[in-house]
Amino acid sequence: MKIKNICCIGAGYVGGPTMAVIAQKNPHINVTVVDINEKRIAAWNDEDVENIPIYEPGLSAVVKEARGTNLFFSTDVDAAIDKADMIFISVNTPTKTYGVGKGMAADLKYIELCARQIAEVAKDNKIIVEKSTLPVRTAEALKSILDNTGNGVNFQILSNPEFLAEGTAVEDLLDPDRVLIGGNVNTEAGREAMQALVDVYAQWVPQEQILTTNVWSSELSKLTANAFLAQRVSSINAMSELCEHTGADINEISKAIGMDSRIGPKFLQASIGFGGSCFQKDILNLIYIAKSYGLNEVADYWEQVIIMNNHQKRRFAEKIVKTLFNTVSGKKIALFGWAFKKDTNDTRESAAIYVADYLLNEQAEIVVYDPKVSEEQIYSDLNYLGTRSEQENRKLVTVVRDPYQVCEEAHAVAILTEWVEFKELNWQSIYDNMLKPAFFFDGRKLLNKRKMEDLGFNFYMIGE
Ligand code: UDX
Ligand code: UDX
Ligand code: ADP
Repeated sequence: MKIKNICCIGAGYVGGPTMAVIAQKNPHINVTVVDINEKRIAAWNDEDVENIPIYEPGLSAVVKEARGTNLFFSTDVDAAIDKADMIFISVNTPTKTYGVGKGMAADLKYIELCARQIAEVAKDNKIIVEKSTLPVRTAEALKSILDNTGNGVNFQILSNPEFLAEGTAVEDLLDPDRVLIGGNVNTEAGREAMQALVDVYAQWVPQEQILTTNVWSSELSKLTANAFLAQRVSSINAMSELCEHTGADINEISKAIGMDSRIGPKFLQASIGFGGSCFQKDILNLIYIAKSYGLNEVADYWEQVIIMNNHQKRRFAEKIVKTLFNTVSGKKIALFGWAFKKDTNDTRESAAIYVADYLLNEQAEIVVYDPKVSEEQIYSDLNYLGTRSEQENRKLVTVVRDPYQVCEEAHAVAILTEWVEFKELNWQSIYDNMLKPAFFFDGRKLLNKRKMEDLGFNFYMIGE
């Protein structure tokens, strides 16, 4: 079976880049990405390709090449579903904020809405691909909705979790470590559907890197991968605190353990804590699933990863207050970076939000500079926490577009995102314009401590 038309529901951080690359590598397939968010679709269609809604290195070039040829962005969800042989579901699955499982379980209402819409519209057989990260056994629920509300057509459900990391999305898509496809391996129709998706990826991914598994393994592999990655960050962050008390240096430790091939060098960078739309959400989800099977030790084991991460964010903020003579009330503190990591404009679960909120509770005056995050987004992140009124957030927080302006008359500078451009700033001139003593808190281990101390800064670095 050869796929001619693909539809992707959800034009976000996952759906957008993934479909752009699939379209670029499969010129014989028409790819339509749909979303109910009109503003987002308009941005994807903006004549100036630099205005697409997601910042990812290399993405605008891929979009430019395929858009209008075999890559389309639209708000007409029904039309795209109707035409497609294969439908990717790539909508958001946030943590539930209400009811049973509040604060833990994944909220599947957007997924279910998609399934019901597909069932209603579909007049011929379709392959449905779960792209969003979902709890294990979601395919079962999807199948039940589709089969019970549909028009008697056949649906094959596949799981094809996305492993791309933001900031390197295009690179990760073009050269993935592996592509994982889960499906019903016990039936001919299931195996055919899997092969159809294998063929899409085989256009550019070597066959031996395309793994096929049963659908539950695929769903659970995604949660497992993110839990393992997050656990490494929490493990190294736990050691960073011990380093600060013992004279050991976390960079030296990372290097020393990373050279053990059983451990490996990646994801051992101590930080103010992990953020992003996946790690916390997926681990909470894993904890919830484990508990729902009565596996309390499994749940407790993974919960420690979150507890450690919350502790790391909090202790960084506490360190700032303690160092500034136990009060930051009325003091100007310059925050460098708001995104959850460099090279993205995504701020979901960014540690910066929590550090800022803590400092605002201590009545600090915050000034933020981030090269890619909009002012509107920064206020919206703080307002979403609901700690104080929107007016107060506006009063206490200023967003600037000039990194030098951010530091004028500031008591302290804190680096919260590892943007490379921060390394190249003229820190001498920034030091000169700050109040003295000028405090510096490097939450990303970005700058050289000795050099910064030579400039006159009172310098704190995580893990030293
Ligand atoms: C360990 C360290 O590996 C070694 O570097 C250090 O110097 C001493 O401690 P050892 O305890 O001899 O070495 O063996 P190791 O291979 O690490 O196994 C430890 C235990 O973990 C064993 O019971 C092993 O069966 C178990 N294990 C190891 C697993 O269950 N799964 C694995 O994937 C690896
Ligand atoms: C992650 C997974 O890496 C990806 O495979 C999955 O598909 C989605 O979730 P992402 O959240 O985009 O990707 O970014 P990632 O690079 O994993 O970083 C997550 C967070 O961990 C960031 O806040 C980052 O700053 C932090 N981190 C990462 C560290 O603090 N130290 C590290 O060594 C690595
Ligand atoms: P991710 O990081 O998983 O891509 P995003 O929030 O960036 O998450 O993107 C998900 C997108 O899915 C959003 O743009 C949202 O508007 C869209 N979406 C959610 N539900 C539906 C739906 N029923 N139909 C179409 N689009 C939807």
